Amino acid sequence: MIILSPSLLAADLLYLGEELDSVAAAGLQQVHIDVMDGNFVPNISYGTNMAHAVRRHGQLKFDCHLMVAEPDRHVAAFAQTGPELITVHAEATPHLHRLVYRIKELGVQAGVSLNPATPVNVLKCIIGDIDAVLLMTVNPGFGGQKFIPSVLVKIWEVREMALAHGKDITLQVDGGITLETAKQCVAHGATHLVAGASFFQSLDRRAFAASIIEARAEA
Ligand code: DX5
Ligand code: ZN
Repeated sequence: MIILSPSLLAADLLYLGEELDSVAAAGLQQVHIDVMDGNFVPNISYGTNMAHAVRRHGQLKFDCHLMVAEPDRHVAAFAQTGPELITVHAEATPHLHRLVYRIKELGVQAGVSLNPATPVNVLKCIIGDIDAVLLMTVNPGFGGQKFIPSVLVKIWEVREMALAHGKDITLQVDGGITLETAKQCVAHGATHLVAGASFFQSLDRRAFAASIIEARAEA
């Protein structure tokens, strides 16, 4: 089963409640919260205030993708918002193992994200300890960018690495996901697709979501 999580980065925040309702009406169960600090990435988005708002709305589960420097300083505050998963960047901390276990101690699933130029071998010594891998398919910082096809082989490599550890890991891809790129990602082993612009700009969000979830291998 393929999971689709719309990224709120592309939602109209003036109508956040309605936007969240439209995600649920499209038959989806969760949204993706992109946290950017203007330091690890060039852009600033929002923080725990957004996660608390989604939680208060009550209809949807959510995951927090922390594109921040020194994520160690922030995971406790995000854990308090009640996410399913907190994802941190391997590039943002020198103590990934400690941070992953900190997230798990806080009672939240832990994910690790890699930028497009980061090789998957940095996951080798942590893959057995994490619940999800998020492969960036654009350079993080902005929504609406073009998918980077060279990441496709990394999806396959992570899948193989997880299988070698006997792990049925969540394998997220994030950035530039359209129906076409979704099919390619699924064909390479992705299980969880994040889509911002393509979901929120779709005229029929329900039909778009259904077509993405049906995305089948077209390698
Ligand atoms: C990029 C974010 C992504 C992105 C997805 O830094 O992590 O979640 O906003 O948006 P689209 O689908 O518009 O590329
Ligand atoms: Zn994201």
